[in-house]
Amino acid sequence: MPGAQDLRPVYLVTGCAGFIGSHLSERLVRDGNLVVGVDCLTDHYPRRMKEENLKWLRGQGNFTFLEEDLTSCRLGSVPARELVIFHLAARPGVRDSWGGTFEDYVRDNILATQRLLEWAKDRKVEKFVYVSSSSVYGDAGELPSKEDGNPKPISPYGVTKLAAESLCYAYWRNFGIPVVVLRYFTVYGPRQRPDMAFYRFIRAILEDEEVEVYGDGTQTRDFTYVGDVVEATVRATELPDGEIFNVGSGSRISIKRAIEILEGLMGRKARVRYSDAMKGDIGDTYADISKIRRFLDYNPKGLEEGLAEEIEWLRGSG
Ligand SMILES: NC(=O)c1ccc[n+]([C@@H]2O[C@H](COP(=O)([O-])OP(=O)(O)OC[C@H]3O[C@@H](n4cnc5c(N)ncnc54)[C@H](O)[C@@H]3O)[C@@H](O)[C@H]2O)c1
Repeated sequence: MPGAQDLRPVYLVTGCAGFIGSHLSERLVRDGNLVVGVDCLTDHYPRRMKEENLKWLRGQGNFTFLEEDLTSCRLGSVPARELVIFHLAARPGVRDSWGGTFEDYVRDNILATQRLLEWAKDRKVEKFVYVSSSSVYGDAGELPSKEDGNPKPISPYGVTKLAAESLCYAYWRNFGIPVVVLRYFTVYGPRQRPDMAFYRFIRAILEDEEVEVYGDGTQTRDFTYVGDVVEATVRATELPDGEIFNVGSGSRISIKRAIEILEGLMGRKARVRYSDAMKGDIGDTYADISKIRRFLDYNPKGLEEGLAEEIEWLRGSG
């Protein structure tokens, strides 16, 4: 933990052991910032993967790891000075959010956010960046999705992410916490979660197993490279308070086409099996990114380049 004489702001990253949170933490540490990462290493996917994500960070002098559950919010050891908070901790994933596990979604997505906001309201916070999801849009509105539409999530996960957005708004209006909400669109790249499509597809192609596609493959996604998401998130400190911004690639392709791209990059044919669409999955996602581009120089990268990195990572990660 940094000493009391050090007056630099502290960057607090929740969910720092996760797919995106670990990339964000690494970027902030490399830039020379003091970073405190919080994560309780939930069992949503293997703990060993999260430990691996933390490996480099744990060896850095300007990074401190707190293994804490945000619902208890025992953050007393975080230095009492200016804070920039990036709140990524959550229980992600649409398909698992039905039935009995909903309780976990309410806990990790809504309650954890409320506890963190309560803690933050008595602190000197320069920015509170809440990471939300394209899942809040549902499939009712026009495409590409704009931030000022009326979100209508069609999954319990989307409902919890929208509820947490609303909590952030309420704490901004009532307590002046300088909140910015970012809505990420399907993120991919090295360290992607094992329940996500590209991870499953690449693994199956490498192991010559069937690639299972939920639905008929014509559904489209706005896929966003993790490096672009990190760039936008770091720079979200420059965005106006109380506002919502899409963080997508601003383009979309079908799952079928994405598999063809993987086949080209991997030099192998995929054996595809189509199964029933999953409840809660949105037909199409497509981000209108004109709002964030009005404020930031945000230029997302092409899909092939980012996918090549994910393939390399999965080839090396046994
Ligand atoms: N991956 C995507 O495509 C995507 C798309 C849209 C939005 N998001 C959002 O981005 C954020 C990060 O997603 P990810 O894909 O990296 O997920 P992830 O599961 O890899 O990371 C989330 C981390 O939060 C931690 N966590 C969960 N509940 C916690 C709690 N109560 N206290 C402390 N730590 C807790 C988990 O242990 C995990 O390491 C999430 O908020 C997610 O909703 C992700």
